[in-house]
Amino acid sequence: VAGQGTIDKVRALQVDLAHTAVAEAEADVRVMCLADGEELPSELASAPGAGDVKSAFKRTTLLRPDGETRWLIVGLGAREELDPERMRVAAAVATKAAGLYSAASIAWEVPGGSVELATAIVDGTVLASFRFDEYKTTDRDEPEPAALETLVLAGVDADAGAEVEAARAAAEAENRARTLQSRPANDLKPNDLAERAREIAATHEGVEVIVLDRDEIVERGMGGLAAVSSGSDAEPHLIALRYRGGSGETLGYVGKGVTFDAGGISIKPAQGMQEMKMDMSGAAAVLEAFAAIVELSIPINLVAVVPAAENMLSGSSMRPGDIITQLNGKTVEVNNTDAEGRLMLADALTYCRRDLGADRIVDIATLTGGVVIALGSTYAALISNDDEWAGAVQGAGDSTGELAWRMPLHPEYKELTTGKVADLTNLASKRKASTLYAASFLEEFVDDVPWAHLDIAGTAWDTGREYVGSGPTGFGVRLLVELARKFAGSSA
Ligand code: BES
Ligand code: ZN
Ligand code: MN
Repeated sequence: VAGQGTIDKVRALQVDLAHTAVAEAEADVRVMCLADGEELPSELASAPGAGDVKSAFKRTTLLRPDGETRWLIVGLGAREELDPERMRVAAAVATKAAGLYSAASIAWEVPGGSVELATAIVDGTVLASFRFDEYKTTDRDEPEPAALETLVLAGVDADAGAEVEAARAAAEAENRARTLQSRPANDLKPNDLAERAREIAATHEGVEVIVLDRDEIVERGMGGLAAVSSGSDAEPHLIALRYRGGSGETLGYVGKGVTFDAGGISIKPAQGMQEMKMDMSGAAAVLEAFAAIVELSIPINLVAVVPAAENMLSGSSMRPGDIITQLNGKTVEVNNTDAEGRLMLADALTYCRRDLGADRIVDIATLTGGVVIALGSTYAALISNDDEWAGAVQGAGDSTGELAWRMPLHPEYKELTTGKVADLTNLASKRKASTLYAASFLEEFVDDVPWAHLDIAGTAWDTGREYVGSGPTGFGVRLLVELARKFAGSSA
């Protein structure tokens, strides 16, 4: 295995609250925001080059008023438009600019002392600091990338500490998910996801981990996970984690863990197939969100389930036309082996509900190409059988900037999932509302508990958002942590 290590070694940022003004904070770069129509404080306004400062959104200018101390002036554009999302973007821009000076520490004057904006600065800074260089053996012409070690937030109330710490833990978790997403399928097998789950369980008292292997998956009747994994030599796993931190309902998180999706016998076109190493993005989100929730001791009961397999082609692969029996007893005609995610998730949902006792569920999966057509990289699709639960999930995403747009369930979509000779089919038409069809299929496996499905095929990778850029986004980690925090507040 090439240079990869345990994911806990992924660099973490120290976040401190300063009780002084930013000018007194010790840092390689101090950041001051400037909105349209505002003036710099006089010490900065008189610095050489201050005339170049612009307040346009994302514009940065470096000033050295005493010839030494670095002040980065970050444009915010219109003050009225400043919200957490724009703050995340501005923080990412500032982090990259500070990186040009190899800054190990940045100190911010938090606009208006707002706790909400302080947490957005944490998000933007941590996420923009992400690097994946486990496989780079040479430095080439690039200078050693600056490693940011400390973020200081000045001018914000000391009681912002808990919010800031939650933001830090969630954003770091999102970066760990991005590392998992980035690792290639030859080095990240279902077993590596299981290892990560064991690692999470080992670092926290009272977290239980269950890892089922191929024989157990078959024995228990998880026909979907068994069928999808049958074409690969890589051992599949049903991975589950349990955390008992509260007294109320049990929340269930389920994430699709296809470590590589070749499509199976219904093979995908060669073009772009390499991206299908990210078909475990839902699993990464669920595992790392779980880790952050436990790290923060959020007082809830939580179970996490990851069905993990590789979807490959071989003499033992499932074939189009095969009929399988899912864990809940329903039979499914496999009309396209590339619609594999729903087959695995179906068993995982049943397991989450019936074996682990989840009272409400969120599943997150890179499930359909159709969602990329419908919503691009801006929104994940949200499909739910419960308005209140859908609202909670959407609300959590609104506050973290991981946006989800609700799309419908309808009996006519459900009709399409009916099989010719079996109860269900995993595919009727590739072109008709594939995202909603897939969701309707999953609904057959949730036993009517409140359930929300997030299709993140368009948002898990290459969104171009300033703070994640191209490549892995870790979409969903912060949303799932935020949802757990809200849930703790409401179910206690
Ligand atoms: N993993 C893919 C979906 C996907 C597409 C993820 C693009 C990320 C980016 C999924 O397993 C898949 O192959 N879906 C097919 C299903 C079809 C055969 C019904 C799709 O959406 O094209
Ligand atoms: Zn897939
Ligand atoms: Mn597929």
